[in-house]
Amino acid sequence: MKEVLFLILLVLVSKAYTFLPKTYDARFISLYSTGPEIVDFSTIRFLGRDHRANGTLEIMEDMDDTFSVSAESFIDSSGGGDYKTLPFSIPLQPFCKSMNSYWSYFDATLKYGENTDLPVDTRPCPMPKGVYYVKDVLIKTDGWPTIMPRGFLKGVANLFKNGEYVGHLEVVCHITDLA
Ligand SMILES: *[C@@H]1O[C@H](CO)[C@@H](O)[C@H](O)[C@H]1NC(C)=O
Repeated sequence: MKEVLFLILLVLVSKAYTFLPKTYDARFISLYSTGPEIVDFSTIRFLGRDHRANGTLEIMEDMDDTFSVSAESFIDSSGGGDYKTLPFSIPLQPFCKSMNSYWSYFDATLKYGENTDLPVDTRPCPMPKGVYYVKDVLIKTDGWPTIMPRGFLKGVANLFKNGEYVGHLEVVCHITDLA
């Protein structure tokens, strides 16, 4: 209960103080996905000491609003695998709407023409099927909450087609104090 209150406070405070400089950094640890018949992330690897994401993702079907998305986030402070729910989440909503509402968190990380050819700048609806590259992608936390717990942050995005669950994507990143 105390933790829940702390997290609620954290969100309120981070909303109020978004002008404060950020004191943390994030880097990729792992990616796990199911549902490769819709979106296949299986060739993405993390390269080098800074774990740059590299590879391709394949979107098998045009992604329009017959798809919907929800997401949750979790934090494991100790690295022991004990993930607690964080209050950052995306309520279930149509795919294109979710792109428009939430993509800003990834704007600084994925740049069309620089480190991907996924049209994240225009976010067309539908997002056309195809093979897209990501190259040397590092997490940029611009636009993220000012205050963030340290540890292993896991984001889980669930994908539904015509209301039926078809797969999910889990991305774990490590949140550390800025060096
Ligand atoms: C990185 O990804 C690009 C684009 O898919 C690919 O051409 C390149 O071979 C990859 N590099 C490594 C070291 O895997």
